[in-house]
Amino acid sequence: MSRYWSKVAGGLTPYVPGEQPKLPNLVKLNTNESPYGPSPRALAALRAEVGDTLRLYPDPNSDRLRESIAAFYKLKPAQVFVGNGSDEVLAHTFLALLKHDEPVLFPDITYSFYPVYCGLYDIDYRQVPLTESFEICVDDYMTPNGGIIFPNPNAPTGRPLSLSEIERLLRSNAESVVVVDEAYVDFGAESAVGLVDRYPQLLVVHTLSKSRALAGLRVGYALGDAELIEALCRVKDSFNSYPLDRFVQAGAAAAIDDRAYFEQLCAKIIATRARLVSDLASLGFDVLPSAANFVFARHSQRGGTELAAKLRERSIIVRHFKNPPRIEPFLRITVGTDAQCAALIAALRTILA
Ligand SMILES: Cc1ncc(COP(=O)(O)O)c(C=O)c1O
Repeated sequence: MSRYWSKVAGGLTPYVPGEQPKLPNLVKLNTNESPYGPSPRALAALRAEVGDTLRLYPDPNSDRLRESIAAFYKLKPAQVFVGNGSDEVLAHTFLALLKHDEPVLFPDITYSFYPVYCGLYDIDYRQVPLTESFEICVDDYMTPNGGIIFPNPNAPTGRPLSLSEIERLLRSNAESVVVVDEAYVDFGAESAVGLVDRYPQLLVVHTLSKSRALAGLRVGYALGDAELIEALCRVKDSFNSYPLDRFVQAGAAAAIDDRAYFEQLCAKIIATRARLVSDLASLGFDVLPSAANFVFARHSQRGGTELAAKLRERSIIVRHFKNPPRIEPFLRITVGTDAQCAALIAALRTILA
């Protein structure tokens, strides 16, 4: 801690993102990026934005992008908020909608940025344990709270929660906001977007980083009742009026409009995931049922720390969490191309021999 730091800066425990190693020829299966490129229409829209208009500020409200997103989900633009990655959308959500007297609830094993936002904004929180089979049990959330947030499918487990269970939670929790972080929903879980018109306390958060192969562009969005969106806008306009630049707004809108490319990408990942799961099972791994673009797998005889290190020696990077201890045996493996997954399986076969 430097004497120049504020107490806030000194007291933070920042999020640690998955590493982005600068090594050649890596099989990079650690941060759930898409192994395929973005929509060619998105790339063309980005290129078209290079020009004289860059001297002008971008649209602070990202109207064109919000219209595309609204049309995609059959919602109104006033029900859409956009931000610089869903991380920024989530940050504003914690401050605008989840900071109350009662603690915000989220699973004990989940996206590790949630407690970081609570630390940043001084929000009380309570972590609700997943079941023995690493599932979210909605009954455990039916207690007084200042809000509820969980990813569906959950990360890093990949396990989905059914829409009927989410609706049961919404019915019993009308007094505080329920945030469903659907970063990975397009790979096989049921989206709660269709419930937005019926439940004014529901906020659904999405990202272009996974199923639209645009992690480098940094775009996320939230869908919910116009009153929830207004709260997010109030925080955004008290922080940065222009979080999305001209390139981003144009490229993201084109990516959303290219529905066929998006559906093709998701289908490819889902097909590769099925092969990866059965190959891992044949090597003695227990793989949690995944509706995401990653799988969470543990080996019956070998620890996660050891396996991750041995894969790394072979230039294959997967994500491994030492904490909580309950998930130490697991590797979180991003679904790559068929060739990347085959390289992973070949390496594991040698390591386990
Ligand atoms: C559950 C979950 N939510 C949100 C994000 C943030 O995504 P981004 O900021 O790239 O939109 C991630 C990133 O990995 C995630 O795993």
